[in-house]
Amino acid sequence: MPNRKPTFFSFCKAICFMVFSNVALVTSKSTIEPCSNSDSCNALLGYTLYTDLKVAEVASLFQVDPISILTANAIDISYPDVENHILPSQLFLKIPIICSCVDGIRKSVSTHYKTRPQDTLSSISDSVYAGLVSPDQIREANSIADPSVLDVGENLVVPLPCTCFNGTDNELPAIYLSYVVKPVDTLAGIAASYSTTITDLMNVNAMGSTSIKAGDILAVPLSACASNFPNYASDHGLIVPNGSYAITASHCVQCSCGQGSSNLYCMPASLAVSCSSMQCKSSNLMLGNVTVQQSSAGCKVTSCAYGGYANGTIITWLSSSLRPRCPGPQQFPPLVAPPTDVTKDSVFAPAPAPQSDGATTKVPKTSTVPKISTAPSTGSISVLPPAAAPIGSFSDASILMNSVAALPTALMIYFLIKLISPF
Ligand SMILES: *[C@@H]1O[C@H](CO)[C@@H](O)[C@H](O)[C@H]1NC(C)=O
Ligand SMILES: *[C@@H]1O[C@H](CO)[C@@H](O)[C@H](O)[C@H]1NC(C)=O
Ligand SMILES: *[C@@H]1O[C@H](CO)[C@@H](O)[C@H](O)[C@H]1NC(C)=O
Ligand SMILES: *[C@@H]1O[C@H](CO)[C@@H](O)[C@H](O)[C@H]1NC(C)=O
Repeated sequence: MPNRKPTFFSFCKAICFMVFSNVALVTSKSTIEPCSNSDSCNALLGYTLYTDLKVAEVASLFQVDPISILTANAIDISYPDVENHILPSQLFLKIPIICSCVDGIRKSVSTHYKTRPQDTLSSISDSVYAGLVSPDQIREANSIADPSVLDVGENLVVPLPCTCFNGTDNELPAIYLSYVVKPVDTLAGIAASYSTTITDLMNVNAMGSTSIKAGDILAVPLSACASNFPNYASDHGLIVPNGSYAITASHCVQCSCGQGSSNLYCMPASLAVSCSSMQCKSSNLMLGNVTVQQSSAGCKVTSCAYGGYANGTIITWLSSSLRPRCPGPQQFPPLVAPPTDVTKDSVFAPAPAPQSDGATTKVPKTSTVPKISTAPSTGSISVLPPAAAPIGSFSDASILMNSVAALPTALMIYFLIKLISPF
């Protein structure tokens, strides 16, 4: 399916490169989702460690809970002193963050960075935050007049890219990973690594072609298990990617999204210490317990499920249903030991293209790849993306502010576009 939204990007690409083909422009793009409400969502950042770091150090770079980083990557949290485990340089991790709506676009603004001696805006953006933010975005977010003078100990806001797209992709629950394209990446390789398709990536990111460049930031939809906790629950909207875990209710409850199921499964966390009751009312079942009773009418399934965390209370739901057959045992995503080296734990690193021709695949050929090939096995599946599917805009805004040196050129392009475009 071709790009449904001929973007400013595809338009500018044609003009800019015709007119200014002699000027080397830095054109990292990122997918921007406009928003208007104050809702936030769970999202993920694809982060590559720039040096060896303890789990707790990675967590403090993003100001997130260390345990949430581990569970998002299906790393075993029962490992002794796991927060002080040293993760190797170049390891690829998914960092769970809250994606908000700020000035009309989705972004994460809860991360702050305290400057150290020798820091520059580009070392912070390219190295410490691994390309998830550009020097200019940090400069703008902090109104830095002279980027060559950074005081040590300054507390900088680090705006990070994220998207929500209503928590769905092709009407199925999804959480979005902000992925920084590496030089070896191809769109086909990224699609294969994350069990999605080229077509879907192109639709989500409103791309006109399959070409990507190192430094571009793509929104990659990951199939997930969604919750339906009430609005007043502090973990309202919890969504857990397939194959991983999340920890919630003040470390008392652990929820997982296993293979072949789109249902979130929650039970008491292994770390649970001082927690409110996790027993379902008027029953002896604990959170996560399921009992089955076979009869001629079918299988009576009684379960005690988690319903969110509100006012320090763990909400539980006791439910009974009659099903044609009894469910099998709960499937848990496999846990891995805390990684110690990058090559061995290749599961964390997205693979390059699965085939050598992935890089040059043409749009018409790939657009016939039906979404069904990697869609989850549950639910009804439509081959064509529905009209309500999320649409991103693969923005070229960074052309206009990528470097101070490029500014005059950028301004010329900007005014040229203004002159000849209707928006
Ligand atoms: C958002 O997703 C929900 C299901 O999760 C759906 O009912 C609703 O229609 C979607 N809204 C939009 C605007 O797509
Ligand atoms: C109920 O859940 C608790 C906590 O996860 C577990 O220890 C116990 O074995 C479960 N009981 C049954 C009957 O499944
Ligand atoms: C939580 O507590 C506040 C104040 O104590 C109360 O107004 C609110 O209704 C409570 N919410 C729930 C879900 O119990
Ligand atoms: C989860 O991922 C596995 C492969 O890792 C896949 O076989 C399964 O169908 C996926 N489940 C869902 C609900 O997407």
